[in-house]
Amino acid sequence: DRLPALLRAMPKAELHMHIEGSLEPELIFALAQRNAVSLPYASVEELRRAYAFTNLQSFLDIYYAGASVLLKEQDFYDMAWAYLERAAADNVIHCEMFFDPQTHTARGVDVKVVIDGLHRACVDAKSKLGVSAALILCFLRHLSEQEAFETLEQALPYRDKFIGIGLDSSEVGHPPEKFAKVFARCRELGFHLVAHAGEEGPPAYVWSALDVLKVERIDHGVQSSKDAALMKRLAQDKIPLTVCPLSNLKLCVFPDLSNHNLGALLDAGLVATVNSDDPAYFGGYMNENFTQTFAATGLSAQQAWQLAANSFNGSFIDASAKKAYV
Ligand code: ADE
Ligand code: ZN
Repeated sequence: DRLPALLRAMPKAELHMHIEGSLEPELIFALAQRNAVSLPYASVEELRRAYAFTNLQSFLDIYYAGASVLLKEQDFYDMAWAYLERAAADNVIHCEMFFDPQTHTARGVDVKVVIDGLHRACVDAKSKLGVSAALILCFLRHLSEQEAFETLEQALPYRDKFIGIGLDSSEVGHPPEKFAKVFARCRELGFHLVAHAGEEGPPAYVWSALDVLKVERIDHGVQSSKDAALMKRLAQDKIPLTVCPLSNLKLCVFPDLSNHNLGALLDAGLVATVNSDDPAYFGGYMNENFTQTFAATGLSAQQAWQLAANSFNGSFIDASAKKAYV
């Protein structure tokens, strides 16, 4: 079977990964020691054993605890560099990485420290790995819109170092409408816009991400298949869905990978893509997501090619550059 080799070798773009979700347990412990931060886990093994999630919130609690070791510019650089090396090894040639500034500013870390470290890794990735990398600033939706406005204000001096705005964290109970005003402001400022919607939340959240926030892509969006009119809208407007199969498996969005609806989304003509979300927590980077999903669902080589093309078409690289890839 030559399909796994094709999946690994094909050039691809990653459009949905949280850089804080690429912190491997070994790096968490190394940074904890470097920064004299104490962790509620005795060892790498004990931390890894805690990675048994039942839903999104059970993961987020541990993910925010892991990020507490990040204090210095070099810490953010080291985290992003480790991810970018793994991306290059998986033939990811372009990636758009999310970061959660509020997770760090809440601990007294200046947003400049966060952005400078991440951005320096992106610059080095181009020259040393041949990977183009860009940053998307996410607002935490369990916090208020006022706090999102404050974060935007703090980050605007560094606006040349990130290309877009996203919305993540606890979905259910925090609908997109909660952030209507701050997304309208970000739109005026010329940022690309994306939002997590329809991961655990209902199709109504996907509708409002599109119609109220006016996002260009939907992160996850797998619950859209429950709403035929929404599926038609997503296909007609060619709205990319950044699907994360191993994340969905680990957070119990689907009972197993063979039940995943990625094939159904592609069959409906949607611009679906494959992504790793939080690869250090969910058991695999890009190529693991591709190989495990294809093995479980029986997707074809034609669909592999479609997913790779979708990843470039759905990206924010400029139109002339896209032509070179698809
Ligand atoms: N933050 C990191 N990973 C996330 C996910 N899968 N959904 C929402 N917020 C997140
Ligand atoms: Zn995500």
